[in-house]
Amino acid sequence: MSHPRSSQAAQSSYGYIVSFHDLRPTPAAFRQEVIAGLRRARKAIPSKFFYDQRGSALFDKICQLEEYYLTRIETDLLERHAAEIAALIGDEALLIEYGSGSGRKTRVLLDQLPTLAAYVPVDISKEHLLAVAAELSQEYPCLRVTPVCADYTQEMAFPDFEEFPYRRRVVFFPGSSIGNFAPDEAEIFLRRAAEVARENGALLIGVDLRKDPTVIDAAYNDRQGVTAAFNLNLLRRINAELDADFDLRLFDHRAFYDPTHGRVEMHLVSSQSQTVRIGDEAFSFAAGEAIHTEDSYKYDLEDFQAMATRAGWKTKAAWQDERRYFAICLFTVT
Ligand code: AVI
Repeated sequence: MSHPRSSQAAQSSYGYIVSFHDLRPTPAAFRQEVIAGLRRARKAIPSKFFYDQRGSALFDKICQLEEYYLTRIETDLLERHAAEIAALIGDEALLIEYGSGSGRKTRVLLDQLPTLAAYVPVDISKEHLLAVAAELSQEYPCLRVTPVCADYTQEMAFPDFEEFPYRRRVVFFPGSSIGNFAPDEAEIFLRRAAEVARENGALLIGVDLRKDPTVIDAAYNDRQGVTAAFNLNLLRRINAELDADFDLRLFDHRAFYDPTHGRVEMHLVSSQSQTVRIGDEAFSFAAGEAIHTEDSYKYDLEDFQAMATRAGWKTKAAWQDERRYFAICLFTVT
């Protein structure tokens, strides 16, 4: 479980932010997870470590790519159904967003929820989180913004926000980031989200659906190579923060859809036999050996709703595009 390192009013350059809760994983935790992952027989590094400042900026670029249909369709669905969603959420909610993203989808909701008690973006990337929070609080001067920097994939001591009177908690988890958990972990995450949302709480969540594999493959192998740069940035980050010597020219991006598991797998493949050092630890790679960096699960809507039900949620509504590529679901705590 993460523990607060500080809970303080943010600096004056983030003047409109009410308070900032810093529950970030420590550099030692980052090092330990990377080393444990590289010691495994099949090397792997958790995808949550993609998101340093540069990784978050690259992810924002991915979201604007022609091939990456997820963001476009989800934003469109939110815009089309915003009034209905807002009516179902009601007045004076506390909106908790996991993975604060670039804030575009948030703005669609904020425009429809003028009585919001407070907006709580939760993200692992501190610089990105504070930049987005500052932008939003300037654009919506009456809105209380209280960012929480944390690894939301882990259990954490979530602030109770009793200082803001609110009617209900609404957890917003867009982007199909739920797909980056293995299904058993996704169910645990949904159960924890129900605890965070508390009685009468709600969950608004985006889910990427199963579809023609060529469409999915293209989304993770874009022509401009932005996804490749995003994947490789993980090694650059490890070099910068953990005193490592990965040569980025000797690793290639690989992403493919596995229809059996219904997931995209992303890897970084060593193009030759080599040894990489992290501090005083050494890791050898055979030519063609891969580091597994991400899974992105795609769901059938009914299977996803059944999983949410097992985790303590009741389906209220769901919206899909005409091609059924993506869904936004609204659940309430049972
Ligand atoms: C954040 N997450 C939902 C993205 C996804 O599609 O799984 C991350 C990503 N990886 C490659 N492209 C985008």
